[in-house]
Amino acid sequence: MSKNKIYIETYGCQMNFADTELVMGILKNQNYELTKEIDDANVILLNTCSIRDNAEQKIYARLEHLRGIKRRRNGTVVGILGCMAERLRKNLIEEKKIVDLVVGPDEYRRIPEFIDTAFAGEKGIGVKLSRTETYDDIIPYREDGLNAWISVMRGCDKFCTFCVVPFTRGRERSRSLNSIVNEIKQLSERGFREVTLLGQNVNSYSDNENDFADLLAAAAVVDRSIRVRFTTSHPQDLSDKLLYTIAEHPNICNYIHLPVQSGSNRILDLMNRTYTIEHYLNLIERARTIIPGVSFSTDIISGFPTETEEDHLMTLDVMKKVRYDGAYMFKYSPREGTKAFEMKDDITEEVKAKRLNDIIYLQHQISFEINQSQIGTEEIILAEGNSKKSDDFFAGRTDTNKIVVFPRDERINTGDYVKVKINRATSGTLFGEVRK
Ligand code: 5AD
Ligand code: SF4
Repeated sequence: MSKNKIYIETYGCQMNFADTELVMGILKNQNYELTKEIDDANVILLNTCSIRDNAEQKIYARLEHLRGIKRRRNGTVVGILGCMAERLRKNLIEEKKIVDLVVGPDEYRRIPEFIDTAFAGEKGIGVKLSRTETYDDIIPYREDGLNAWISVMRGCDKFCTFCVVPFTRGRERSRSLNSIVNEIKQLSERGFREVTLLGQNVNSYSDNENDFADLLAAAAVVDRSIRVRFTTSHPQDLSDKLLYTIAEHPNICNYIHLPVQSGSNRILDLMNRTYTIEHYLNLIERARTIIPGVSFSTDIISGFPTETEEDHLMTLDVMKKVRYDGAYMFKYSPREGTKAFEMKDDITEEVKAKRLNDIIYLQHQISFEINQSQIGTEEIILAEGNSKKSDDFFAGRTDTNKIVVFPRDERINTGDYVKVKINRATSGTLFGEVRK
């Protein structure tokens, strides 16, 4: 048994949270001890994100803090995992002298070895990307709970011109359908009630025999009381077969995260998004016809190079046409190594911020209106536990991923499905009372 105690902090997307569970699985298999207390640890790992500059700045600030810990507790090993490991490699070790190991997303099997290297006084560096690594045989370490993230594929081949992911996570590759189904069986036996299938672009999932629709269908029949969610979909690859599969299985959630990024065809082309707004809106229409009541969320970037006021208005226009239930909204952040990095970042910070504000304001208004229209309806909620604000209230989510808060009731336990009548709503939350 190793004396080392390992503490991991996770930043960024859900894929990183799933990867942290994978890393914990790898470490547990080798009898490493994990801790939730940074003060108990002699190995501190940060699983990092490079998607925008502010994500990286956060890590640099954290590293400065860890420098203090390292000074006070001699022999503490500090390591960087994830996308920043890939992007900055040796620089992290050379510039930030406190980093002892740097391990990219495809080298996690070797973490124990790199930890040993670091304790031996050398630097542990593993940043090779792989065309085949899917960690298919590794069971991630998960605490008991309701929702489990399952990464079903890794990498991305889309090369949107703003995005660093194809460089930090490498080429697309999928796990086998069987291993994913087996993982869901085990989660079902442990009492999980929701699984979210993850990939940068899940619609291009393929294990040579099965596509993503096949995988979703297979996931849905493992346990009908488990809700199946998935993210992220790319508008170019979302097939009718997939839409029919969602419609056919009641436990596949009627919720699609479908990033649009911009409402202007000229900008979409510069972004290499490979679809037009007409195609996108058509897809939304088809989805709404095939899956009645389906809800959508999206990602939007403001201030991509050369974006004019007119382009920006087109983005607002698409938002009004689609009426998303929710959106993740960002200012464009140039990333070295991407194609867009070679374009001039010509939209000023003020203009980016103003456009982002317009986008956030509009989305807020739309979410509020959509949620108001839910008042009086009855929804089936998966009860997740006490609400954030008060122990007298329970919170859960609808099939369409909306948070619902309702008074606690002795008869209701975490993991139960309950019918709730909605009687009040804000832009972010629905409130209601339990119906029998
Ligand atoms: N700048 C701003 N937002 C970005 N995203 C990806 N790269 C960038 C970037 N360079 C956003 C996209 C993507 C989401 C995960 O992050 O909207 O869909
Ligand atoms: Fe990045 Fe585009 Fe791939 Fe998404 S689809 S990870 S935005 S390159």
